[in-house]
Amino acid sequence: MSRTNPASYSPLHIALHWLIAAAILFQLIFGERIKDLGRALKDGGTPDAITVFMGNAHIWVGIAVLALTIVRLLVRARYGVPAPLPSSRPQELAARAVHGLLYIAMVLVPITGLVAWYGGVHTAGEIHELAKPLFIILTALHVLGALYHQIALRDGGLMRMFSAR
Ligand code: HEM
Ligand code: HEM
Repeated sequence: MSRTNPASYSPLHIALHWLIAAAILFQLIFGERIKDLGRALKDGGTPDAITVFMGNAHIWVGIAVLALTIVRLLVRARYGVPAPLPSSRPQELAARAVHGLLYIAMVLVPITGLVAWYGGVHTAGEIHELAKPLFIILTALHVLGALYHQIALRDGGLMRMFSAR
């Protein structure tokens, strides 16, 4: 962890934030398709082209989330992030907790998916299926926090992830 606090998130950190968020959204919307592929392969049938494409897309987009998150954590450790915006101590702790849990999910969700698919570990698949509710709850809290800063506290909190100064 860097000891310096830059004035803003770096352009690379911001780009990675939105790229990863878009990739996760894709995974949540189309996640069911890899289950169709798994079922078709298990039954010994020939899956149709769209199922094969979307199943493989789930794997590669998921691996991209893992790889980009590792890059982002390295960028974060190297260049640091801006100091938290002033708010009450409980609010600051809640924001830290949600950010920490999002990072943990961004690493562990793809790993459990890989273990389930390539290792055939059923329990990993069951844990992986928690990805949808987990990301929905964490992202909802996260977005509410950003909007609270932007609209209620009027401190430009939301804009911190849009422009680097
Ligand atoms: C951040 C990345 C990922 C997200 C957000 C994600 C999300 C999801 C979602 C929402 C589902 C459907 C769950 C349901 O219908 O209840 C799913 C299923 C699945 N995903 Fe992922 N996934 C990610 C990465 C991966 C990766 C890298 C793999 C590796 C192959 C993978 C393998 C699977 C498998 C095997 C299933 C079916 C699980 C089962 O039927 O037990 N996922 N994923
Ligand atoms: C799945 C989607 C998302 C994920 C995984 C995610 C993850 C994160 C994480 C981990 C951080 C902490 C950055 C750090 O300190 O290194 C962050 C910051 C931030 N995110 Fe997201 N985010 C997502 C979606 C969104 C959305 C939709 C918005 C806008 C409404 C948003 C707005 C922000 C803002 C404004 C910050 C900066 C907070 C601050 O430092 O004051 N994020 N995000």
